[in-house]
Amino acid sequence: MKLPVNYKVQEGELEGKVVLVTGANRGFGLAITMDLAKAGATVIMLGRDLGSLEYAYDAVVDAGYKEPILYPLDLEGATPENYQELQDNILDKFKKLDGLIHNAAILGTQMPIDQYDIKLWYSTLQINLSAPFMLTQFLIPALMKSDDARILFLSSTVGRKARAYWGAYSVSKFGIEGFAKTLSEELEKTQITVNTINPGKIRTEMRRTAYPAEDASSVPRPEEKSSVIVYLLSNKGSKINGEQLTIVE
Ligand SMILES: NC(=O)c1ccc[n+]([C@@H]2O[C@H](COP(=O)([O-])OP(=O)(O)OC[C@H]3O[C@@H](n4cnc5c(N)ncnc54)[C@H](OP(=O)(O)O)[C@@H]3O)[C@@H](O)[C@H]2O)c1
Repeated sequence: MKLPVNYKVQEGELEGKVVLVTGANRGFGLAITMDLAKAGATVIMLGRDLGSLEYAYDAVVDAGYKEPILYPLDLEGATPENYQELQDNILDKFKKLDGLIHNAAILGTQMPIDQYDIKLWYSTLQINLSAPFMLTQFLIPALMKSDDARILFLSSTVGRKARAYWGAYSVSKFGIEGFAKTLSEELEKTQITVNTINPGKIRTEMRRTAYPAEDASSVPRPEEKSSVIVYLLSNKGSKINGEQLTIVE
């Protein structure tokens, strides 16, 4: 299923909603955060580094959007106790969660499998696949308390079609696709929808690392693609479930 890039965010359309975004301090995660906050949602900005989260917080508040909440957590080392604490904090403060956007990821390295760095393989699978599993498991109780909740996983072209040398990153995104499908079947009879979304190319640090020779000016900026996430979180997205979504360019 393809989605339009040019959705126009209506101020206040997500008023009262609480949405957690991982990797919210920069790149696509920050652009998503800005649009959600513009639409009136309270965004729980999860990132591993408090300093860069604070910098991103200033950008949201200076733009005049809804004040976000900062939640520093390193998804590589986070334990079940850390996720339990996050669940407790969300339920204490908000009583519910309306959206969970799994955006944080690392690229790993681009190498043939027979040379792939084993430690980096584990780190990539941990951040890109196992952390989203744990975060989801611990936040389902809060999502169950929303009238109309969304779980969205950022995927990739190489999570749907294999490409040589993309190693653990590609495998983690194939894993995310399988995980999301399984979860959407399990939650079929609930008010929680589950989808993956391939954003296509976006001008971020990850893209620059993957394609160092590319002319960056030909690649869309994160804020040119993020508004569709508001569309999916709004009531217009409530019937979209179990899909592999793609943002068309
Ligand atoms: N850019 C593209 O062209 C493209 C294409 C297809 C799919 N995607 C997907 O879109 C999503 C966003 O990508 P992007 O381009 O914005 O990437 P990016 O610029 O590299 O940003 C990645 C984000 O993930 C966070 N992160 C990484 N490791 C973390 C950890 N251990 N704990 C917590 N946060 C962590 C980073 O935080 P730090 O600042 O602390 O590193 C950063 O906020 C990813 O899922 C990516 O796979 C991107």
